[in-house]
Amino acid sequence: MCGIVGYVGKKNAQDVILQGLEKLEYRGYDSAGIAIVEDGVIKSEKFKGRLAVLSDFLEANPIKGSLGIGHTRWATHGAPSDENSHPHLNADNTIAVVHNGIIENYVSLKEDLIAKGYKFKSQTDTEVIVHLLDSLYEGNLLEAVNKLTSIIRGAYAIGVVCSKSPNEMVAVRNESPLIVGLGQDENFIASDIPALLKYTRDVCILENGETVHLTPEKVTIYSPDKKEVKRDKFTVDWDVESASKGGYDHFMLKEIHEQPTAIKDTLLRRLDENGKIKLDDIKLTKEDLEKISKVYIVACGTAYNAGLVGRYAIEKFAQIPVEPDIASEFRYREPFIDQNTLLIVISQSGETLDTLAAIREAKRKGARILSVTNVVGSSVARESDDVFYTWAGPEIAVASTKAYTTQMTALYMIALDLALTKGTITEEFYFDMIEKMKELPAKVEKILENYEDIKQVAKEIKDKHSAFYLGRGLDYQTAMEGALKLKEISYIHTEAFAAGELKHGTIALIEEGTPVIAIASQERLYEKMLSNIQEVKARGAYVIAIANENRKEIEAQADRVIYVPEVDDILAPVLTAVPTQLIAYYTSLIKGNDVDKPRNLAKSVTVE
Ligand code: F6R
Repeated sequence: MCGIVGYVGKKNAQDVILQGLEKLEYRGYDSAGIAIVEDGVIKSEKFKGRLAVLSDFLEANPIKGSLGIGHTRWATHGAPSDENSHPHLNADNTIAVVHNGIIENYVSLKEDLIAKGYKFKSQTDTEVIVHLLDSLYEGNLLEAVNKLTSIIRGAYAIGVVCSKSPNEMVAVRNESPLIVGLGQDENFIASDIPALLKYTRDVCILENGETVHLTPEKVTIYSPDKKEVKRDKFTVDWDVESASKGGYDHFMLKEIHEQPTAIKDTLLRRLDENGKIKLDDIKLTKEDLEKISKVYIVACGTAYNAGLVGRYAIEKFAQIPVEPDIASEFRYREPFIDQNTLLIVISQSGETLDTLAAIREAKRKGARILSVTNVVGSSVARESDDVFYTWAGPEIAVASTKAYTTQMTALYMIALDLALTKGTITEEFYFDMIEKMKELPAKVEKILENYEDIKQVAKEIKDKHSAFYLGRGLDYQTAMEGALKLKEISYIHTEAFAAGELKHGTIALIEEGTPVIAIASQERLYEKMLSNIQEVKARGAYVIAIANENRKEIEAQADRVIYVPEVDDILAPVLTAVPTQLIAYYTSLIKGNDVDKPRNLAKSVTVE
């Protein structure tokens, strides 16, 4: 959460920082601020609200200078307000700090600083950083930051500038992401790559505990024990366009429409010339697999919902018991993990702190870690033994869409590969499934063409206070994801239920006009699903069915039907997800909500 950008060079820092923050607003948008060293003095402006509030102010009141830092905030400690916005400055305005993360020992540090006479203006944990730096600064900013990191505990990516050294910036990271951008007579820091793409494609990633010292000419990275580190740069090969809206009104709609390509890329880039899945960077041998007695799938939110589908595929194809768990809970139940456990983690961003904590706990107990992530070089990727990268491209909208369908694609491939290696499926079945997966992009395309009915559904449900998603088997997992999507961007309270479970309590909530979105793609469960539709209809529900296009008779049962192309039951979640995404999108749009930046949320959740 929170996005930081820093610039040292010859350009106008304000412009560089504002455009970087714009690309990071998905990380938090409660407030935004900037601090620039102008003529040896730090000038800072910060405002509650969207970045536009700050940009508008700076347009009329520009700050000059070519060294500066900026921040876009997702509030943790202290409500969104001007005072709690970053940057935070020391009393004589000589040091400015931006921070992403949480300083866990800030309460005791704050007490010590107050006892020394420091006055706090905000409720944030971050403000202790700047006052601590003030107390530690003896003319050398890097040394002060080095001392600081031996005192603070927690997750942080911090950028610091000082008016007494107007040609340098220092940054440090622990847990929260931070990258360094390399330019000609200019250098940058940022929480994520899109922030820098307009200026540079040459990037290196800081490891946990590393500090970086930047001047316009030079970047020096130091290890946690303060030794200089050589770090290879890499060149970002995707373009700015893929991190911008490209003609769509919202990133979410663009990303929904990118799914055919994203699924195709995720699949085809992993097939060799014989059409076989190649998991080059996954080094699980047949012997390794034979030892695996248990698989956990751990993730958060949408990624967790993808994991639920992954469980079906792995259990069905590879016949290994799989237990999915929510990353933020995984550690607390002392899961049974040993050397024969495989932990599959799923994370679009690769930076979700709960997911990282689950990796560390499982690793400590000896598990092997296989991650499915979308961000090359992310913390999750680096801390895993094996990585499967999805090829979704940057996902900017807070509500995840293309990451979800590519995560499921990845999990099917992993399941098939495990199964073939273990010998639990035949080659014929394996190639048949791959052929069926190759048809998914065109089928998704077909659903995307028929969005008029879905717009109608959005109009019908927009004023409702609550809604339900129902499904059986894999349709229940899609129901969970559909409900998450609808509630997070439309703010309609939506619950997902296993259709057979509804009568054990929740059916009491169904009343005249309650929208029930019933997913009925699973052919083997179709008849049972029809009975559940009748049960809720009999109690007044307005039923919207999502069904296979060969099931036209469902029109007699449901008030409205959205069709998806026919597909093997196991692959259906990739298709049924798409109408649920579009229902959420259009409902949010019609309600006038901020589709890409729903309230209270942020894209990358780097706090526990
Ligand atoms: C919902 C959504 C979240 C994320 C979750 C995990 O639309 O996007 O539920 O799926 O925060 O994020 P990653 O996948 O980055 O670990």
